[in-house]
Amino acid sequence: MGKNVVVVGLQWGDEGKGKIVDWLTDYAQGVVRFHGGHNAGHTLVVDGTEYKLNLVPSGVVRKGVQCYIGNGVVLETHHLLSEISALEARGLDVRSRLKVSPGCPLIFSYHSALDVAREAAKGSGKIGTTGKGIGPIHEDKVARRSLHVYDLFNPTRFGEKLEEVLDYYNFVLTQKFGAKAISFEAVRDQAMADAEGIKPLVADVSAALYAANKAGQSILFEGAHGSMLDIDHGTYPFVTSSNCVAGQAAVGSGIGPGLLHHVLGVAKAYCTRVGGGPFPSELDIETAGTPGHQMSSKGREFGTVTGRKRRCGWLDIAALKRAVQLNGVTGLCITKFDILDGLSEVKLCTGYKLGGKTVDLSPLGADDVARCEPIYETLPGWKENTFGVRSFEALPANARAYIERIAQLCEVPIDAISTGPERNEMILRRHPIAS
Ligand code: GDP
Ligand code: IMO
Ligand code: MG
Repeated sequence: MGKNVVVVGLQWGDEGKGKIVDWLTDYAQGVVRFHGGHNAGHTLVVDGTEYKLNLVPSGVVRKGVQCYIGNGVVLETHHLLSEISALEARGLDVRSRLKVSPGCPLIFSYHSALDVAREAAKGSGKIGTTGKGIGPIHEDKVARRSLHVYDLFNPTRFGEKLEEVLDYYNFVLTQKFGAKAISFEAVRDQAMADAEGIKPLVADVSAALYAANKAGQSILFEGAHGSMLDIDHGTYPFVTSSNCVAGQAAVGSGIGPGLLHHVLGVAKAYCTRVGGGPFPSELDIETAGTPGHQMSSKGREFGTVTGRKRRCGWLDIAALKRAVQLNGVTGLCITKFDILDGLSEVKLCTGYKLGGKTVDLSPLGADDVARCEPIYETLPGWKENTFGVRSFEALPANARAYIERIAQLCEVPIDAISTGPERNEMILRRHPIAS
């Protein structure tokens, strides 16, 4: 049996999960996405070529790696087909290596229309969603009215189900939000056209993963978003609509939790967040010469999906410790380490003042997190360049001390450190699969 590793983001997304998954594919034979949808944006850089992925798993750039989209993923088939075509136009072989679960709920234009209409109506209290229809499709799923990939292959049943659900959506869109109704024919015809492209990819992902692992293959379970965006455990309601923690890897791909052998938690050396919601260690990113400005500009902190500026702040250990516990993290990977180079001092938010008490774990939900006042521990910074450094010993002493302090506070070993966007700009301390 191969060793399976779950790779999850421990903050508010964009931790560099895609880069880490791609890097690990030298020791893995498969990569599976198990939740979220095309609201995710993962950037890989391999030999100077940049790839931006939304739905296609980050194993796609490494030849021969099998990619899977599990039942937990909410699927916009048109977006998937465009993404595949764009990657194939760049010379990657995708179709022969991608399996899609028949159980994925389908996203259509009425989902994004409702998502956008709701956000517009909320005004300043908006969540700042990606507008991709992620909330509405998850509502449909739990309300037992969503259409699934398997429905695409029975046009009569598809039409009946679509009519019923679209009736409901058009009522809400027009009556509640004053938005335009969505045409049944337009949705149906597009779906039926896309069905032709999707059909050859559809496979029993759950059974395929079980068989591959039994045959000795190691599988990577690629998380999207981040633990603080988890629908149950994040800063609700400023969250996405899926479970983002490692436990979802089992549910969203159709394997048992006993087959998840290592949980690699990915965290930036600082924090970022796109969209609304509380962020206790947030910094000013607009004033030149400040640490927040350095994180934003040097870190090129712009959202991959929406192009919005990401908010930036010091590394929040209280949130990180919460995420370590929620995910059962067995190894940490610290990314974007190079972005902190040159700061005179670096800070760790080790806890908060909350209602007259001191806490060292992030509380649940947005309201209490918004009341948290950060408590900082200040460490000396380092002047030296760490960009592209590939051995721990070659890091400046203060940089090593910063990393050791993170491991000590989180009580988890640090498996790897990323020092640049390229696949091989990594410091390896303990291989998550090979050791
Ligand atoms: P994901 O959503 O977690 O996969 O992360 P994104 O790809 O959205 O955002 C991470 C960004 O940081 C991407 O543009 C990566 O190319 C880049 N990146 C990842 N690791 C490093 C690193 O160690 N240093 C630098 N400078 N950039 C990195
Ligand atoms: P990756 O996989 C960063 C955020 C959105 C918004 C909230 C809800 O690239 O790390 P949604 O459209 O999901 O209903 O939006 O969640 N969000 C992300 N932020 N990275 C992501 O994915 C995100 N996916 C969703 O900005 O605040
Ligand atoms: Mg991203």
